[in-house]
Amino acid sequence: MNFELTEEQIAVRDAARDFARNILKSGVIERDREQKFPTEEIKQLGELGFMGVMVNPKYGGSGMDTLSYVLAIEEISKIDASASVVMSVNNSLVCYGIEKYGTEEQKEKFLPPLASGQKIGAFCLSEPEAGSDATSQRTTAIDMGDHYLVNGTKNWITNGGSASTYIVIAQTDVEKGHKGINALILEQDMPGFIVGAKEDKLGIRGSDTHTLMFQDVKVPKKNRIGEDGFGFKLAMKTLAGGRIGIAAQALGIAAGAFDLALAYSKERKTFGKEIYKHQAIGFKLADMATQIECARLLVYKAATIKDAGENYDIASSMAKLYASEVAMQQTIEAVQIHGGYGFVKEYHVERLMRDAKITQIYEGTSEIQKIVISRSILKN
Ligand code: CAA
Repeated sequence: MNFELTEEQIAVRDAARDFARNILKSGVIERDREQKFPTEEIKQLGELGFMGVMVNPKYGGSGMDTLSYVLAIEEISKIDASASVVMSVNNSLVCYGIEKYGTEEQKEKFLPPLASGQKIGAFCLSEPEAGSDATSQRTTAIDMGDHYLVNGTKNWITNGGSASTYIVIAQTDVEKGHKGINALILEQDMPGFIVGAKEDKLGIRGSDTHTLMFQDVKVPKKNRIGEDGFGFKLAMKTLAGGRIGIAAQALGIAAGAFDLALAYSKERKTFGKEIYKHQAIGFKLADMATQIECARLLVYKAATIKDAGENYDIASSMAKLYASEVAMQQTIEAVQIHGGYGFVKEYHVERLMRDAKITQIYEGTSEIQKIVISRSILKN
């Protein structure tokens, strides 16, 4: 498998790196402290083509491959993992779900504003009692002939308050189990759509995570994605791609923390020499660099398999599982290398450590990734 980057991929990576360093970095501590959504920055990411990286240009996207997308997420996440999750959900869950499985009418209507960053998308699967156990949906979408009547509650929805376009997974026929679930496109201005409480989070505090309530929301039948009963499979297939985005986010968080730890270890002196010259720190840096490189290989591999049109379910779960564990461990190490400075906000590593935790939880916990991987191993 060849990971030599094309000129186009290098250009995407460099543009994302410049944007992260020149635009995102200056306000990232304040946005984290105030739980402030990066509204302006997301608009600019849209103008640069980062909100619809893989979307076909005929729907206003950049028409690039998954590896380019992963490179962009990695660079943005080194500096601002809140901005990167907004981007990731919009690209991998919402734009992908509509472009891959939607009707021509849905693509023409919903993709251009999402791909250009004029509007933001959210993906609504999790519920108070259905996070990991995704078949247990309680939100209902009752078939009323020309429309569905949607009732229920969704929890922990990334972009919940800032989005305009939502893919909502809901149960139409409980008797049919997962085959009775549909995926519908809802818009925030539909009567009965209520944006509930914003969560006060440990990490990715610049992104907004909300509870959403639906009270007799009338959703036209033409807003259903795929055939009747395709909703659960859409969720599973879309999440498999989403996990590549979150794996790239985790990789970026780990690599960002490593960059900070390396730079600090060259500046900081103890016992008469720079701390990287102490073997205790040098070994830590060696372990960090090795594990981050392993994570990078898994993430790029998953993206490359997807680009080749092969089944990427297992590769994406492996990449997410490993990269998120590395992000958690290595951000803790980066704080340790910084000593007391690592514990204060000004040095950025404590935020990366807090941001890392969610990568082991959303779009399927580490345990869910192990279920996906182990089922596949045992099947073969
Ligand atoms: N592609 C296509 N079909 C798939 C699939 C995939 N990747 N995975 C499962 N399916 C199909 C199965 O083939 C099966 O269909 P058939 O009966 O026709 O064969 C059907 O879906 C049900 O599959 P399972 O029996 O395997 O389902 P399960 O109940 O055992 O659950 C699971 C499997 C992997 C645990 C799944 O429920 C899962 O992934 N759960 C985690 C959900 C998740 O990631 N939640 C996070 C919320 S989203 C989020 O975080 C968004 C955000 O805001 C950031």
